[in-house]
Amino acid sequence: MPDDTPARPPLDPAPYVWTGPPLGQATSLDARFYTDPAVFDAEMTQIHRKGWLFAGREEMVATPGSYRALDTVGGPVLLVRDHDGTLRAFANICRHRNSIMATGCGPADRLTCPYHGWTYRLDGRLTGVPGMQGIPGFRREPHGLFPVRMELWQGAIFLTFDEGAPDLTTWLGNYPDLAGSHRMADMVCTWEIEIETRCNWKLLLENAMETYHTGIVHEKTVGAQTSVSFPTQGEWLAIQVISTRSIATLGDAAPPFPPLPTLDAQARQGTYFTLIHPTTQFALAQDCAWWLAVRPLAVDRSVLWVGGMFPRAALDLPDFATRAAPYYARWEAVAREDVDILERQQIGLSSVYAEPGPLSWRDDMVLAMNTWVQARLAGR
Ligand SMILES: [Fe+2]
Repeated sequence: MPDDTPARPPLDPAPYVWTGPPLGQATSLDARFYTDPAVFDAEMTQIHRKGWLFAGREEMVATPGSYRALDTVGGPVLLVRDHDGTLRAFANICRHRNSIMATGCGPADRLTCPYHGWTYRLDGRLTGVPGMQGIPGFRREPHGLFPVRMELWQGAIFLTFDEGAPDLTTWLGNYPDLAGSHRMADMVCTWEIEIETRCNWKLLLENAMETYHTGIVHEKTVGAQTSVSFPTQGEWLAIQVISTRSIATLGDAAPPFPPLPTLDAQARQGTYFTLIHPTTQFALAQDCAWWLAVRPLAVDRSVLWVGGMFPRAALDLPDFATRAAPYYARWEAVAREDVDILERQQIGLSSVYAEPGPLSWRDDMVLAMNTWVQARLAGR
């Protein structure tokens, strides 16, 4: 049989991967991309509601008969684990008058709207409609919860609000070639925080994909880093911060968890920082993984969601909590250092003098992200 699988580029890292205008001519984006509500509205329509976004991990709704509510760029969403174990995603709104059905997380036998008591099965079917007897033409069947398109990769839940979006496998392209040996399917989320930020969503992700700033902004924490970049196929980007030990904890002491035994030769060389367009970063260290997921709220406001994962086997260690604590401290400290500097950058972008500045070769992923955003806004 002929193999019609498209040829994949090798994952050979390079000092930088350059696309678009040549070094010396490439600049940062015009400030209006970070300050103009019209650009933000266009990004919502052309990018955020058309791409795949990370919505959490399967183990967050592990128990049959449970749910978890989350806010997204497409509005409130419910992740629901049905009694038979099926995972589903629904718009978290009642079909009566669009009130939010549930908040937080927990067990659920049925889903009952707290406003007028309309009740749904965990498969979304409307069952209980108090007071609707005798309404001419009313039927329950067409008024189930709206399903949201959902796909899973290695335990990660992704959603899209666009029925025409390519499937997640196509979106991820050769991402599994880079990230596969970390076996994220065998990991469990043990920690998460949300940080409200006063900056544009792109600033958070541009920052997360370059090591130019780390020796300065993170002088007292992770310090200076060097990275290589990877050519990729699919809607994602990657760099690797070179360090033969995990950089997920601070200081000189050996990392509290051993390296993952499954890592391939490249993965053993450092920590991958990967951006799955438009707003999901997975960082993959030798002993753990974490994410930065950004939810744009307005042109100058975003929520940064940070979560950490360890291999399932590590959770069985009697001193797991003690070992994991330095990772949580590092993830939060570094995230807050970044947010502080990015809120300053957001203020600077409001200056009447703000203009695009020349990019360094260490800004290669900033340029790649900016190029991707501009192409999407242009409908490509
Ligand atoms: Fe940083």
